[in-house]
Amino acid sequence: MKIKAIYPGTFDPVTNGHRDIVKRAAKLFEHVTVAVAANPSKIPVFTLEKRVELANVVLTDINNITVRGFDGLLAEFAKQCGAQVIVRGLRAMSDFEYEFQMAGMNRLLTPDIETIFLTPATEYTYISSSLVREIAALGGPVDDFVSPIVCAALEKKMC
Ligand code: COA
Repeated sequence: MKIKAIYPGTFDPVTNGHRDIVKRAAKLFEHVTVAVAANPSKIPVFTLEKRVELANVVLTDINNITVRGFDGLLAEFAKQCGAQVIVRGLRAMSDFEYEFQMAGMNRLLTPDIETIFLTPATEYTYISSSLVREIAALGGPVDDFVSPIVCAALEKKMC
């Protein structure tokens, strides 16, 4: 069975941890849409266009994926993309409660789409976009956590 998946997030900015999850998902599914949410409630530092652009560059070597921005309900966008599966990354137990609630809500909104969880490699367990932004803003090194193009974009943004 050929299954299409969608991997949603804010990706503000995309990190090596996100990339790790995308690579794992791309091995499991025929196609993965990396769905960059506008997510105005998080007041992202990078514009939606910039977040899509960065993700496109960082994930360019993975063939069976497409990066798309979206505004609105994930459940609706997943249907538009023809996805049967929503992929989310689980880094620690602390992620679980929020993810469990979101998976339940998405199931109520679109019962035909399943949420599955993938865990990143151990070295990415502690990475989050907001910590990366904070370290960059305080002049710390982030090159172990994000790709060079994201490092450059953070430097430009923060100075
Ligand atoms: N590696 C590194 N970091 C990771 C990660 C991984 N594998 N997986 C998650 N994270 C981090 C993110 O960087 C982010 O960090 P931050 O909060 O410090 O910025 C955090 O974990 C979780 O963010 P993310 O994965 O981007 O998801 P999100 O919680 O911001 O986004 C959406 C959730 C976009 C999927 C959700 O808000 C959504 O679906 N929005 C659309 C509207 C909608 O349908 N709402 C109803 C939902 S039921």
